[in-house]
Amino acid sequence: MTIPTLITTAQALLAPGKGILAADESSPTIEKRFKDINLPSTEENRRAYREMLFTTPEIGKYISGVILFDETIRQKLKDGTPMPLALSKQGIIPGIKVDEGAVALTNFPGEKITHGLDGLRERLADYRNLGARFTKWRAVITIGKNQPSQTALEANAAALAQYAALSQEADLVPIVEPEVLMDGDHTIARCEEVITATLKAVFDALFEYRIALEGMLLKSGMVLSGKECPQQAGISEVAESTIRTFRRTVPSAVPGIVFLSGGQSDVESTERLNAICASGNLPWKLTFSFGRALQAPSLQAWKGLPDQVGAGQAALHHRSKCNSLALTGAYSDKIEKAG
Ligand code: 13P
Repeated sequence: MTIPTLITTAQALLAPGKGILAADESSPTIEKRFKDINLPSTEENRRAYREMLFTTPEIGKYISGVILFDETIRQKLKDGTPMPLALSKQGIIPGIKVDEGAVALTNFPGEKITHGLDGLRERLADYRNLGARFTKWRAVITIGKNQPSQTALEANAAALAQYAALSQEADLVPIVEPEVLMDGDHTIARCEEVITATLKAVFDALFEYRIALEGMLLKSGMVLSGKECPQQAGISEVAESTIRTFRRTVPSAVPGIVFLSGGQSDVESTERLNAICASGNLPWKLTFSFGRALQAPSLQAWKGLPDQVGAGQAALHHRSKCNSLALTGAYSDKIEKAG
């Protein structure tokens, strides 16, 4: 492990005005997304979709890194350029999702544990050879009656820490992602309590496993009311709660926190990001690492049609630009509508 290499990559991912595009949907997830546009999830359609996204003109102005899925990092553009090289040509750092998904946590109905540590050292070496410079591992935490259990929090935190250690050993910046799901009717106060407990467990484990905090990124959701909560917190409450939670739990040695969108609409995600980033003097850099909130309008515009590639790219360009402006609190309704 060379810590300066990790720090340089982490800082490059946090370059001013730039964020990360999460395009690492697993095969079952991309199949779900394609269903919305009535497109069969064939290997060629998945390849063509990712080619459309990654060759968007000037997208490197707003996107510092792209998280790929195992299949995609091995695919090529139509002209034969390997996907990681296509990204590098845009000034974008290729990254890779390395977990193997969340499965049921035995004896804890409704809770999950993320798999993928077996053989991870070897897979990481392979991904580095393929061009990856950072990685992602997602743990899933559910809010419910008596959930999350302390066992689920600690088991997921230990897996995240073991993954982060292996990733740093391979000179790949780990993006440590404990996602607390938005599903449920819980209040924003309850969400704050759960994200606080989750991050406490995660940073305890990262400390125990001797992770170099300077060479990692945290990926988190915003602190929000549950999707089914009748009382939805407003933008400023979301911003205040999110910042307060991070201040109480995330060490200042961590260079940056990147946000997942988690099922918020594209515009909602940008509005909230804008308010959070306007919060002023913070010890870490903040940026976006959205999947759905960056891709949804692009997917809808493209629809799998070769003659709509330009429309799909224009939609991705617009969302990326809006989110980039949100990083300095400069996003507005006017910019949104300017399309
Ligand atoms: P969403 O922004 O769609 O939640 O995806 C981000 C991500 O990487 C989830 O692991």
